[in-house]
Amino acid sequence: MKLKTSAIRFVKYLFFKTSLYKHFLPVMKFDMTVAQINLIIENINQIRGDGVILEIGVGGGATSVMINQAIKSQEPKRQYIAIDTFSGFTEEDISYENKFRGKNSQFQFYKSNSKEWFEKTLVAHGIRDAHVIESDCKKVDYSKLGPIAFCLFDVDLYLPTKEILPTLYDNLIPGGVIVVDDCDPSHPIYDGAGQAYREFCDHIGLTPEIAYQKLGVIRKPLN
Ligand SMILES: C[S@@+](CC[C@H](N)C(=O)[O-])C[C@H]1O[C@@H](n2cnc3c(N)ncnc32)[C@H](O)[C@@H]1O
Repeated sequence: MKLKTSAIRFVKYLFFKTSLYKHFLPVMKFDMTVAQINLIIENINQIRGDGVILEIGVGGGATSVMINQAIKSQEPKRQYIAIDTFSGFTEEDISYENKFRGKNSQFQFYKSNSKEWFEKTLVAHGIRDAHVIESDCKKVDYSKLGPIAFCLFDVDLYLPTKEILPTLYDNLIPGGVIVVDDCDPSHPIYDGAGQAYREFCDHIGLTPEIAYQKLGVIRKPLN
């Protein structure tokens, strides 16, 4: 044991003597701030009825791990479902941003993920019962997923958010919550989800509720 500790200390000593150490620090690598993650978890904790927890647009899985840790000890037990292309934005969604929203970006981020790596990330954190769907979110049959208690909808762009929000809302349980990420209208590139969020709020007569400049919240009334 003493030998093992000495060996670990020696390896760490070498890392900290070179610039390699930056890759081995305990890092917090999230797309969300602690306050934003806290808002998501507090909302999940307050929902009472039965329903699944859905995350659409999961990236590498950082927020997914936090959500799963939060629901692990909760009653009622809820199924966690993740949906992502695992290869970034779709050609159709990018093309819409370019042609109809005047965005010059090619949106080439999030291409280096995979369903397998995402699942392994969850397993490494003790999460073995996630239902992971590799798909364009516009092509999923949401009626097969069951009633939704909470959804983090984080695909950034206008077209998928616009198309899927009404379906998510239809399948949301009374008292359920949808949180749409990227609703900051001043962002030069990622303002599409926010536009779709505001249009949807307008459509159902809801006053937009933007938390931390970024998260668009939709609450379905209990009655
Ligand atoms: C901002 S990242 C998600 C970050 C994650 N929610 C987190 O907090 O760590 C956006 C994700 O949306 C996915 N995505 C983009 N368009 C999509 C679409 N039409 N269908 C499914 N996933 C999509 C991308 O592959 C990417 O992983």
